Amino acid sequence: MDTTVVVPTFNERGNVPELVRRLDAALAGRDAEILFVDDSNDDTADVVREVAQTSTLPVRLLHRERDQREGGLAGAVAAGIAAARGEYVVVMDGDLQHPPELVPLLRDNADPVDMVVASRYCGSGDSSGLSSSWRRAVSSGSTLLARSCFPRRVGRVCTDPMTGFFCVRRSAVELDRLRPRGFKILLEILARHDLAVAEIPFAFGERHDGESKASWRNGAQFLYQMAALRMGKMSRFAAVGALGTIVNLLIMWLLLRDTSLHYLPAAVIATEIAIAHNFVLQERFVFADLRAENRHPRWLRFLHSLLYNNVDTLVRLPVLAFLVEAASVPSVLAQGLTLAVAFLARFLFVSTFVYRPRRSPEEALADAPPVDVMAIAPLQGVSTPGPEAGPGAEDRPPTSPA
Ligand code: GDD
Ligand code: MN
Repeated sequence: MDTTVVVPTFNERGNVPELVRRLDAALAGRDAEILFVDDSNDDTADVVREVAQTSTLPVRLLHRERDQREGGLAGAVAAGIAAARGEYVVVMDGDLQHPPELVPLLRDNADPVDMVVASRYCGSGDSSGLSSSWRRAVSSGSTLLARSCFPRRVGRVCTDPMTGFFCVRRSAVELDRLRPRGFKILLEILARHDLAVAEIPFAFGERHDGESKASWRNGAQFLYQMAALRMGKMSRFAAVGALGTIVNLLIMWLLLRDTSLHYLPAAVIATEIAIAHNFVLQERFVFADLRAENRHPRWLRFLHSLLYNNVDTLVRLPVLAFLVEAASVPSVLAQGLTLAVAFLARFLFVSTFVYRPRRSPEEALADAPPVDVMAIAPLQGVSTPGPEAGPGAEDRPPTSPA
């Protein structure tokens, strides 16, 4: 079989018949099937079985009982990819916010690449179908965050890693690398593989029937997912920081023992040396993969790190004092909070600004040679993450299941 359209559904009884009708029309004459992965509590599964009787395309149903609904939406999509019979899998929502008429276009452009993404954020793409301006802001913010945190595998190849509408060659996805959870299955796939990606713009429509299942919980799951995906780099970054703290204390102790320095200048000297120490190790062990095509020369990266760390030290103390004095947070808890936030902020600053790529993701996408020219929606370009770098390569898959 050529194509399997995987549709995750959770209480979508009012949308299934219309979706199948339009997919039937769009895919007429093609070697394709529709696979619903249903986690519903309502009778969506019955509606699917009924529609399957009359549809031209084969319709299959994978209904997951309450105790099998692992990974929510992302888990359902992963299960669908696993059960698909097609060489290519198109993933789309079941509420008609993703136009079924674009499915053939996604599939036809997948031949020379691994994946084609329907993007709301390239060319004539449009995200106005998101239900509120708040959701639009969250969507753009998380898109920016995801692309900056994975400059090579996501930023450079995809303008819309949050979209739920894409086509992928099934053999390009190694399912046991994925840790599906929450809503962002595309991000999970991109960040754990080196895929050649093309994009087509699309307008995210209005929901046909029913309401969105997105919740606050999905936001938390997204942040957790980002941390889990970034774990390798983040833990190396943390290890360097921990070592730096030891260096800092050791130098301060030596200065106090062997010189007549006052403890404050001793602390400042120790801190500056620790910052330099951290920079050297971070260049070598944390960001080696991004160094090669970095926009800044090494001395400038060092200057950025030096300035940032000094500002960080200066800002943290007043914040700590504020938390303890004005907000009466217990002092050790407050110190823990400020250190945790400072760590995340430092990691983000260093990985997105200090090691910013020479060309922005948009520039890289624009430069990529187009794969094909299309009448309805022009293809935006195809880009690959580039060769795998050395020991610090981005987002290595976990070697054993977490
Ligand atoms: N099987 C299964 N299990 N399906 C689910 C689940 C689940 O736990 N939760 C949601 N779905 C299905 C819905 O039934 C629908 O077909 C599709 O997944 C998308 O869910 P919506 O509730 O319509 O989400 P949305 O429109 O708010 O979000 C969509 O757009 C976002 C773009 O901002 C999704 O495509 C997101 O993945 C996407 O990020
Ligand atoms: Mn929706």
